[in-house]
This record gives sequence, C-alpha cells and structure tokens, in this order.
Amino acid sequence: MGKDVIIACDFASAEQVFGFLDKFTGKKPFVKIGMELFYAEGPQIVREIKKRGHKIFLDLKLHDIPNTVKKSMAVLSGLDVDMTNLHAAGTVSMMEAAIEGLTRPDGTRPLLIAVTQLTSTDQERMEKDLLIREPIDKVVMHYAANAKKAGLDGVVCSPLEAGKVHETCGEDFLTVTPGVRFADGDVGDQKRVMTPAQAKEIGSDYIVVGRPITAAEDPVAAYERCVREFVG
Ligand code: C5P
Repeated sequence: MGKDVIIACDFASAEQVFGFLDKFTGKKPFVKIGMELFYAEGPQIVREIKKRGHKIFLDLKLHDIPNTVKKSMAVLSGLDVDMTNLHAAGTVSMMEAAIEGLTRPDGTRPLLIAVTQLTSTDQERMEKDLLIREPIDKVVMHYAANAKKAGLDGVVCSPLEAGKVHETCGEDFLTVTPGVRFADGDVGDQKRVMTPAQAKEIGSDYIVVGRPITAAEDPVAAYERCVREFVG
C-alpha cells in the first residue's frame, strides 16, 4: 500500500477546481472531492477529473439504512473512484452492505474508509447530544474496530490517533489523516496539527492536505514539498 499525499480540493465550482488542477503539468496528484463540489457540479465532475488522470477520494460520508447505502455505493463504484467513505456510526451491517454495493462484478472495488467521530464532536457534545458516555478515544477505537470487522480498509483520523489505530486494528489497516501543516505554515482553524514528516513518522498512510497547498503562492511547489516530506 503506497503512502501518498491527497489534496483536498475544497472548491465551489468546476471552473475553480480546473483552474487549480491545470497548474499540475507533471505528476497528477491524488485529489479529494467533497460534498460542496460534488453537490454543486454533480457526478460529471468526478468523471472529468478522473479523465485528466487523477486518483480520486470521494468524500461523501454516507450514513443511511444498509440497503440505501449499498445501492448508493454501487453508483459511486461505477464512477471509478479510488477511495470513498461512510460514517462508522451507521453500524457494522451498514458497513458490510456498503462493501457489497461497492464491489464490482469483477471483484475489484474502491478503498472504503470510515469516519469515526468527527473532530467537531468533542466529549461534551458526544455525552450531551448523543448520550454516548464512554471516553471519546475509546469510542473512536471501537468504531475503527467495527470498520475492520465489516471488512473496510481503514479510517479517517487525526495523525495523533494513527499509531493507536494501527495498534488496535493492525498495520495494514489504513489511516487517512487530515490536519497537516508545514512547520513554518499557518495553522488556520485546525486545532491539532502535524507536519507531513511527523505524520510519516507516526505511520499515517495517506495525508489529506487542503489550504497549505490550495492557498499557497506556488501550489505545485507546496505539493512537491509535502510529497518530499511525507513520502521521502
Ligand atoms: O485545508 P485543510 O488542510 O485544513 O483541509 C483538510 C481537509 O480535510 C478538509 O477537506 C476537511 O474537511 C477535511 N477533514 C478535516 N478533519 C477531519 C475530517 C476531514 O480537516 N476530521
């Protein structure tokens, strides 16, 4: 499983995302397409970016009854994305149904990654709003273990949790980690951050990097620096 840098393409339109991707004339980076761009432009944006030679992580975080998730995953699999995700809170049966839907007739499928607890949910919100009274770290590891049990490939987590996830679920279970910043860069609204080199050290498999690349004066140079520090 190759380590890679995934650029979070948090743009609101096709025009903006293509303006950004046009700068990459050499290696085509692995990109993350989220809800904003997908809902604005529809599935065609995925086909077009794929046609340009990029690998795609489609970050739509599905969470519904197993049958609906299964059928929706079959549609996403047909879009030929390389990685997609769902909420582990949907239960093990929902995750198993997702794998079934995602698997193509030839047995291949995109990587499937679970979101455990969103980083916007803290201990207090989890207890008060969700009535989950266990410590949040335990909940995150339990959800990761459920994802593994259902046959998923890994979880989205903070780089600070990557080591523990590997301890709990094995070295082959993928950790996809946002919250990455250059040592000399702006932290912005991210609370707990790591540099690409630290994320590598702690064993992240993929780092998801948005603004440090998309808002850089020279995005290609920032991407290349990220790859140098993370992949080596
Ligand atoms: O610009 P920045 O590097 O902060 O972008 C990080 C990306 O990772 C964004 O697309 C953000 O939505 C996503 N993400 C995150 N924290 C999570 C899950 C996803 O920052 N816990």
